[in-house]
Amino acid sequence: MCKTAIYPGSFDPVTNGHIDIISRGLMIFDKLIVTILENPAKTTLFTIEERMELLRESLKKFSDRIEIASYGGLLVDYAVARNAQAILRGMRAVSDFEYEFQMALMNRKLNRDIQTVFLMTGLRWIFTSSSIIKEAVKFGGDIESMVPPVVYKKLKEKFNIPEK
Ligand code: PNS
Repeated sequence: MCKTAIYPGSFDPVTNGHIDIISRGLMIFDKLIVTILENPAKTTLFTIEERMELLRESLKKFSDRIEIASYGGLLVDYAVARNAQAILRGMRAVSDFEYEFQMALMNRKLNRDIQTVFLMTGLRWIFTSSSIIKEAVKFGGDIESMVPPVVYKKLKEKFNIPEK
């Protein structure tokens, strides 16, 4: 049986930390469906179309084993619709734990058959998040090493940062 997981997130925008989790996830699963879902707690910088395009560009090297999608409803419903057995989430530090734990237990309550699998990011990405990267770039911080080149370019455009 082909083992498929949904890798859900806001991906606003995709970072090297996400890509690290995807490459680790592909060591366990045959296929990952990288899916943009709505997080009601967040307002996004990029539209869904922009985020999908950035994912497409950044994940080209995995294109034979991943799919990029977006969905407007419950994550577990999407997992069932796509015949996925699991939800993949990255865990950075202890600070992620409470939110991830709550979300995993809610998803399990909503559908007992879908398992949540957590993977640790590589140590070099432990402090990165889309939110902190956006904050840094907004105030002129150098985040080039933390995101794929296409995302770096797009972030600079959004915040009107001139070329170096
Ligand atoms: O990258 P994020 O913002 O931490 O991802 C959170 C996300 C989008 C995966 C989560 O908010 C989500 O699953 N949203 C879809 C609605 C849903 O199913 N919520 C979980 C049960 S309450």
